[in-house]
Amino acid sequence: MSSVPFARLLLSAAILTGVAACGGDTSTSTTTSTTTAETTAPAAAPEATAPAAVPATETAAAPATPAAGVTLASLTGDATKGEQVFGQCKTCHVVEKGVNRVGPSLWGVVGRKAGSIENFKYSPANKNSGFTWTDEQLFTYLEAPQKVIPGTYMAFAGLKKPQDRADVIAFLKTKA
Ligand code: HEC
Repeated sequence: MSSVPFARLLLSAAILTGVAACGGDTSTSTTTSTTTAETTAPAAAPEATAPAAVPATETAAAPATPAAGVTLASLTGDATKGEQVFGQCKTCHVVEKGVNRVGPSLWGVVGRKAGSIENFKYSPANKNSGFTWTDEQLFTYLEAPQKVIPGTYMAFAGLKKPQDRADVIAFLKTKA
């Protein structure tokens, strides 16, 4: 919990840095591009500031992410949004019963034992994980699959946003 003000500090620092860096850039380019740029420079400046500041904030937030403290219980999953999030899983999974692709069918996955689809060739890591795919287990797993099950065949970086995970879990629950 004490990490929150610290994270804020980091964020403000990042924003300041971002803005400062950006201001620097802008003034440099204004100076170098001489008087012809006078009309374009003021218009470009606010534009340049905004996108630069946003990624800077995100990058700074990533390591000190509040996600560490976010529990699934504190979130409300939205199945409709979750269907969109599931777009990221679709390259490898479908939610139709008995249809395996690169990954196993995710029909009825919530509550299922890990590695339990008969005709899917799991990694030993997944098969022997001993997991049951409860909401909570999925919430943890989907943040960083390769960390939670080292050796998994699932080549997916993870859903960093807790809300995305809550949403996709809500969606998966409707497919059972
Ligand atoms: C690049 C392909 C790929 C993507 C993208 C992907 N997965 Fe997977 N997933 C796999 C593979 C392959 C496995 C089997 C892992 C193993 O056997 O080690 C798997 C396994 C799983 C399992 C365990 C199933 C079981 O029966 O034990 C769950 C749950 C899962 N994926 C959910 C998701 C969700 C949700 C997403 C999207 C947010 C997703 N996956 C994205 C390939 C993928």
